[in-house]
Amino acid sequence: MPALLHIDSSATPGSVSRRLAGVYREVWAQEDPAGTVVHRDLVRTPVPHLDPDGLHTLLGAPGNDAQRAAAALHDELVDELLGADALLVSAPMYNWSLPSNLKAWLDQTLIMGRTLPYDPAANPLAGRPATVVLAYGGGYETGTEEGLMNHLEPYLRTVFSTVLGYDLTVVSARMTLSDPEYGASPEDVRRRDDSLAQALTAVRARAREAARLLSARV
Ligand SMILES: Cc1cc2nc3c(=O)[nH]c(=O)nc-3n(C[C@H](O)[C@H](O)[C@H](O)COP(=O)(O)O)c2cc1C
Repeated sequence: MPALLHIDSSATPGSVSRRLAGVYREVWAQEDPAGTVVHRDLVRTPVPHLDPDGLHTLLGAPGNDAQRAAAALHDELVDELLGADALLVSAPMYNWSLPSNLKAWLDQTLIMGRTLPYDPAANPLAGRPATVVLAYGGGYETGTEEGLMNHLEPYLRTVFSTVLGYDLTVVSARMTLSDPEYGASPEDVRRRDDSLAQALTAVRARAREAARLLSARV
């Protein structure tokens, strides 16, 4: 019975990244109705930023109630990530980067010797399928001048693929703010619509692939 951890991070009403993640979930459920899902909504239930008690517990045993609470949160988040056969993360671009709620989740979840391996050869998450779905107000295509300002996708690729070793697929919807009602050109509206259509197709295919991969493995 494959287990999925699904993280949402957009606070925007009508979020495109949440919609793409929802499509993934529909396909996941169709492919394997026995598959389980843990859903963490970082807007409704934010993970707190690391504080001195949390930092203390990364380095040593907890010595007071606040540190015990911080350690319990780390245990919960680490168990969730390690217990998931597949990972789905949805994120908007906010100020050229990831939303701070997603960064807080990463800061509390990536722990040396637990989720981050001392020995890369013993990486506990290596090879598991991860899917990151992103939404951008602008284009930010790789190879363009605007693309050099994209600190969202390269960062998440570093974390999930390079460091954690997931089998990562990134699906992006671009130009989401190109609305004809607000004066967007027909060309930009076409780019927005084409990008969304491609992202919907890609996220369906990826969800099918991940579910089939896991039902063969689990
Ligand atoms: C606080 C904030 C900051 C944003 N910063 C950027 C940005 O730097 N570049 C960009 O292209 N769009 C930016 N946008 C637009 C969002 O990326 C766009 O609305 C996207 O669709 C958000 O993802 P979502 O639809 O999943 O919420 C920003 C939106 C908000 C609310």
